[in-house]
Amino acid sequence: MIITSDSLLIAQEKLVEKDPKIERKWWKEAVVYQIYPRSFKDTDGDGVGDLKGIISKLDYIKSLGIEVVWLNPIYGSPNADNGYDISDYQAIMNEFGTMEDFDVLLKGMHERGLKLVMDLVVNHSSDEHKWFQESRKSRDNPYRDYYHWWPAEKGKPAFRPGAFEADGSGWRYDKQTDSYYLHYFNYKQPDLNWENPKLRQEIFSMMNWWFQKGIDGFRMDVIPFIAKDTTFPVITQEELDKNYQGRWDIFMASGPHLHDYLKEMNKEVLSKYDCMTLAEGAGMTLKSALDFVDADRKELDMGYHFEGTNLGYVPGYFKKMGNYSLVDFKKIYSDWDNVYAKKGWGTIYLGNHDQPRMTSRWGNDAPEFRVLSSKMLTTFLLTMGGTPYYYNGDEIGMINVKFNKIEDYRDIETLAEYEKVKIAGGDLKQFIEDQKTGGARDNGRTPFQWNTSKNGGFSLGEPWLKVNDNHIFLNAEAQEKDPNSNLNYFRKMTKLRKSNLALVYGKYTLLDVENPNVYSYTREFEGKKLLVMLNFTSKKATANIGINTANAKVLINNYPTVSKSLELRPYEAVVLELK
Ligand code: NOJ
Repeated sequence: MIITSDSLLIAQEKLVEKDPKIERKWWKEAVVYQIYPRSFKDTDGDGVGDLKGIISKLDYIKSLGIEVVWLNPIYGSPNADNGYDISDYQAIMNEFGTMEDFDVLLKGMHERGLKLVMDLVVNHSSDEHKWFQESRKSRDNPYRDYYHWWPAEKGKPAFRPGAFEADGSGWRYDKQTDSYYLHYFNYKQPDLNWENPKLRQEIFSMMNWWFQKGIDGFRMDVIPFIAKDTTFPVITQEELDKNYQGRWDIFMASGPHLHDYLKEMNKEVLSKYDCMTLAEGAGMTLKSALDFVDADRKELDMGYHFEGTNLGYVPGYFKKMGNYSLVDFKKIYSDWDNVYAKKGWGTIYLGNHDQPRMTSRWGNDAPEFRVLSSKMLTTFLLTMGGTPYYYNGDEIGMINVKFNKIEDYRDIETLAEYEKVKIAGGDLKQFIEDQKTGGARDNGRTPFQWNTSKNGGFSLGEPWLKVNDNHIFLNAEAQEKDPNSNLNYFRKMTKLRKSNLALVYGKYTLLDVENPNVYSYTREFEGKKLLVMLNFTSKKATANIGINTANAKVLINNYPTVSKSLELRPYEAVVLELK
């Protein structure tokens, strides 16, 4: 597919200008590539990826055709939750390198026309942050109100969930001041108190500091959680069911001053820069999404929801995979597309550092289907509306590592959930089995597979998390040489998206709604109509769309033998331009 002539691009720009609804932005047209620094490339042999490792791969990153890189947290941290517990917001984690390395990285990216988005983790800090160290010293310490404390003489505080705790509680008793503190995640991640204007000013000046260094945006960790009802009332199940569809995450994300804080952040920081922001939309719903990203509200740019990635989990278990229907999958992504039909801007993703590998979860990682299904999912991500977020390693089709024993896992979440099952006298063997296909985050965090050498070329030392044995045949180096590899397919897809504004701004229409096997849709933009057909199954399947494709032009097909038939081969993906 080659539509790169200047004249066409100019024509496309003119068309865009005509439509008052569409305001062109670089972050709408970009593909974001997410790098998990801990697992990307280690250069000093300590088994942990580092900034120099990313620097050494900048040409590779550029070659993917992406425009933005989002880095998971690289700040000072004792790593209870792999950097999502920050002890110094203005320092680089020792294992990752130095601030000089960071400057070199940022410069190297900008020289290549790549933008850098950092992770902003400000719902909580580390308990080793100096603010918390001070805060816990005494009830009248100047930093006391940087966190949420509950004096023990008032009795036990009302239940709040603590995600990475075996007992599930979000409060921890601290003897020194005879008080409990709040932590929505692990006890080493105390929640910051956004009610306190001093705390907000500290965060805003830290954000300004990073922007002045030249970064291009922030992905904001669980940002809807920053605002809470700080009277901490008892929440009954009835109340949860009635107001929050029984979901704690919605309750946790519904603090009364949330949008005041985000508007203030916009005014004090974001409005001063040509930057992009992405909310991790914990508790975000179809109804509340626009409150975050409607441009007129001057808050954030984009958010990502969990409805898609949560589909199919068995209720009552920790991310245990059950069955799901493609019809439901299509409905979720179509409903979310619809939210942004007139205002705001969406996102699309299937994998990240909190998810199992997309090919294992949504495709098929059996040898005969791994490559095809991975390409099919890549086609989905890069032809949908909203900004695509693409996770490192997915471009070579990495799959779940499927550890057999708990000792191989490193993730605080999996370890806490294992403890829960143990305490409850549950089936631990079954838990390990469930993690192979379901939720274990380490499946998505195993080191990047560069080549066939020791540890897949990731590190000369002992990797912090085992490398998948399949690096012997599944690695970037081998795929560079193969024109039909996942890697080269991803490059073709980023090119296709860049040369077709219809894939960015085009109107999305779901076709063949009830088809349980095939996902078909069109993207239309000022006279151009693209048709996408994706077979999500390992069998032949038909797209019942009644469209004559005889004159259509094939823009891409994930099989080496190109077809434009409505009869699709297993995991076939086709993008056609209709005439
Ligand atoms: C969401 C992050 O993506 C996840 O990795 C982390 O554990 C939690 N927030 C807590 O910060």
